[in-house]
Amino acid sequence: MGLFDGKVAIVTGAGRGIGREEALLLAKEGASVVVNDLGGARTGEGSDVGPAQQVVDEIVAAGGQAVANTNDCSSWSGAEEMVNQAIETFGSLDVLVNNAGILRDKMSFNMTEEEWDSVIKVHLKGHFAPARFAAAYWRQKGKDTGESVNAKIVNTASESGLYANAGQANYAAAKAGIASMTIVLARELERFGVRVNCIAPVALTRLTEDLMGQGNEEMAAKLAPANIAAGVCWLASDLSEGVNGQVLKIQGGLAQIVQGWRPITQITSDEAWTIEAIDAGRDTLFSKSDPGIPPFFLNINDPTA
Ligand SMILES: NC(=O)c1ccc[n+]([C@@H]2O[C@H](COP(=O)([O-])OP(=O)(O)OC[C@H]3O[C@@H](n4cnc5c(N)ncnc54)[C@H](O)[C@@H]3O)[C@@H](O)[C@H]2O)c1
Repeated sequence: MGLFDGKVAIVTGAGRGIGREEALLLAKEGASVVVNDLGGARTGEGSDVGPAQQVVDEIVAAGGQAVANTNDCSSWSGAEEMVNQAIETFGSLDVLVNNAGILRDKMSFNMTEEEWDSVIKVHLKGHFAPARFAAAYWRQKGKDTGESVNAKIVNTASESGLYANAGQANYAAAKAGIASMTIVLARELERFGVRVNCIAPVALTRLTEDLMGQGNEEMAAKLAPANIAAGVCWLASDLSEGVNGQVLKIQGGLAQIVQGWRPITQITSDEAWTIEAIDAGRDTLFSKSDPGIPPFFLNINDPTA
């Protein structure tokens, strides 16, 4: 008995890295999987059916069920087609894992319009478009059956977005947007029986090998993408019942729930604010934090530092 017996899942960007492990684990646990991957370069250029087909072949060789999809998940029509492919091939859709991503890092003062647009598109629209068509399908299914659909979306954020990494204005803005969008979708879709959560992974893949050190076997084992797949499959399963709108960070042997913006101090006024009145409240406003730039937590050696 697998956790996902009889379930149908889509994983975007499942031809390599973290998405590949997610697709393999979902299939091992019984899901029929649509393996989506455009097959492009780390920076998003080009396309190749190879990576998606290889993962499908691996799943089928292990006795599972899978089909390849090479659409750009950030294309509106491509996302619709992908959702329809799951329903037409396997009869339904129960799990959507939005994972596909690219990087085009630059400091803000050097970033081109193309670098900005492409990263925002692949991540932000590439998460929203599949979610939008999956949500429409689940809403209709709920109406048709009169029952809760029991479906899940797992999105993919990043510490870069949660904690704001210099050199990644495009990527961090998209990933912070994805973390917030997760909560929006969780609020909107709860009524149909859909839970929406988010993973913030740290893993050694082609996206991070220059940051984390290629060829370091100890690091590679510690930061294996399979760790991330375990967290994603937990969020995508019924085991995580009651968990909605959350961000789960996994880095090696560490798993954390990360929560975001909230008021930490306040001052109030019965009259219209003036510059002087705000300034008079400065000490209270910063009584629980430093007024400088908040720390960036991506520390591979000591993630809790
Ligand atoms: N590796 C990490 O430590 C880390 C950290 C934080 C966030 N992430 C996020 O995790 C996700 C997976 O990253 P990874 O490290 O496995 O990278 P990866 O490059 O190994 O895999 C990403 C896959 O997405 C595919 N892809 C890219 N654009 C696509 C598109 N438009 N449509 C369909 N497929 C597309 C690529 O072809 C690639 O196979 C990304 O969203 C990334 O931003 C990774």
